[in-house]
Amino acid sequence: MENYQKIIEDIYLDLKNIDDVGKVADYIPELGEVSADKFGINMTTIDNKSFDVGNANEKFSIQSISKILTLTLAYKLEGEKLWERLDVEPSGNPFNSLSQLEKDKGKPRNPFINAGAIVVCDVLIGHLKNPKKDFLDFCREISNNSCLNYSEKVAESEKACGYRNVALCNFIKSFGNIKNDVDEVLDFYFYTCSLQMSCKELSQIFLFLANDDFITNKGNSIITMSQAKRINAILLTCGFYDESGEFAFRVGLPGKSGVGGGIIAIHPDEYCITVWSPKLNKRGNSYKGMLFLEKFTTKTASSIF
Ligand code: DON
Repeated sequence: MENYQKIIEDIYLDLKNIDDVGKVADYIPELGEVSADKFGINMTTIDNKSFDVGNANEKFSIQSISKILTLTLAYKLEGEKLWERLDVEPSGNPFNSLSQLEKDKGKPRNPFINAGAIVVCDVLIGHLKNPKKDFLDFCREISNNSCLNYSEKVAESEKACGYRNVALCNFIKSFGNIKNDVDEVLDFYFYTCSLQMSCKELSQIFLFLANDDFITNKGNSIITMSQAKRINAILLTCGFYDESGEFAFRVGLPGKSGVGGGIIAIHPDEYCITVWSPKLNKRGNSYKGMLFLEKFTTKTASSIF
């Protein structure tokens, strides 16, 4: 077995003090408060060996990484009918883009752009009695971690200025693809984005996408093998918005970013790895995070290709 701890530490030291050309997201005011030089990594294998470096145990705002969790629960509850409301094609557009929706008549290109995740939240509201609580309970169960929580501060900060998401939700509703009240859908969406987790917690919660035999401590399986394959496929093709091709090209793993600076990547049957570095490149993805993962899969020769 590779000496993952040493490899992670070596790459961390190589990158720690590089000239980071990224910028911390501040369009959600509360996110702008984070210190720009945070840098943490955790890798967890499917047999639960865990390797950490830097700020790996500090919680941060997972933002769009939560789109994998909302999709997972909606896919579990709705089954294949979900794809009547959402497509599975790369958008080639920024995460918060409105333009494609007009041509696509309110059917979002995929569940990992904001439009798609907002439709997923609408689907969940149709299934859950108490969406915020039930979704949080689901996250706690699949990670076996009762400490997971939302950040009210981040959710309220985004709600106060989430003008583009308000526009997206109303626009989709005008095509009939939002069934519930717009304010309720947006409130739920903002809370899902505000989940706080550390790199280690993120690697652990996504092990179900790496391990076909995954069951929770309560003895429940989460999704079928076919559903896990499909979520990984959408991650590979759509997880980084208009930079999805670049991530697949440089890193070669299914993955997902968030504007809090986190990136998770999955090597099916092997491991989940998470990097956190808050400065984002022009496309809204962690600059150092992408660089780290490119070096990691190159050094360990462990991409899926
Ligand atoms: O909706 C938003 O703008 C944020 N809550 C999430 C955006 C995000 O993380 C996109 N990621 N790269």
